[in-house]
Amino acid sequence: MRKTIVAGNWKMNMDLEEGLSLARSLDQYFRNTPSGKTEVIICTPFIHLTGVSDIIKGGSIKLGAQNCASEVSGAFTGEVSASMIKSTGAEYVIIGHSERRSYYHEDNDMLSKKTGIALDTGLNVIFCCGEVKDEREAGVHFNIVKCQLEEGLFNLDAEKMEKIIIAYEPVWAIGTGLTATPEQAQEMHKHIRSLVRDKYGNSVSDNMTILYGGSCKPSNAAEIFSNPDVDGGLIGGASLKKDDFVAIVEAG
Ligand code: 13P
Repeated sequence: MRKTIVAGNWKMNMDLEEGLSLARSLDQYFRNTPSGKTEVIICTPFIHLTGVSDIIKGGSIKLGAQNCASEVSGAFTGEVSASMIKSTGAEYVIIGHSERRSYYHEDNDMLSKKTGIALDTGLNVIFCCGEVKDEREAGVHFNIVKCQLEEGLFNLDAEKMEKIIIAYEPVWAIGTGLTATPEQAQEMHKHIRSLVRDKYGNSVSDNMTILYGGSCKPSNAAEIFSNPDVDGGLIGGASLKKDDFVAIVEAG
């Protein structure tokens, strides 16, 4: 029942034509070489969504955005709402990425609000959590992640919680080349699943997809994904290169 997912997070990379060109080559690849049980998602910048949606229509790749507004609609200059995202054909949105938390000061309250709006709009949410280096070194990483989940997610009812994918992304591993060891990933994923079990019971926790993110690449993906509580990955840098992303999907 639990899905294996490999999701690419393109972040703020590639102009429109470059993004569409990557989407075309991924689409072509996965139409000819199905990814088996692994679901493939690409989370693009907002401006790519409509074009990528047209390219992947009828294929197996799913589409997501990287953020959404914390309001439903109205006078919020520069923001993009969950329903606008949905209207492009996207089915997913990343919420709570550490880059949003740190550079744009998004706190757990705001992330909880965004998650509620996204789910009400019919999007599935990839909810990110993870500790910074100092927190790991101080040994408080399990508590930090617990707090992020309790404040950002655990106000949801069980039915809505089933639409959540959790991504554990240790901040010290993002874009640094430092990857969590398979043991570090597994122990945190197990911790996350047990928090979900305590709050929502066995069925929700057993079916929950928990992704690992942070310097995932073709050379380490298979080992990280082979852990019992790691159900795939959220991939940054390596999702910008077709061959690397394909290799990571195939490790899923
Ligand atoms: P990198 O794979 O570039 O470390 O980024 C991970 C990430 O932040 C995905 O959301």
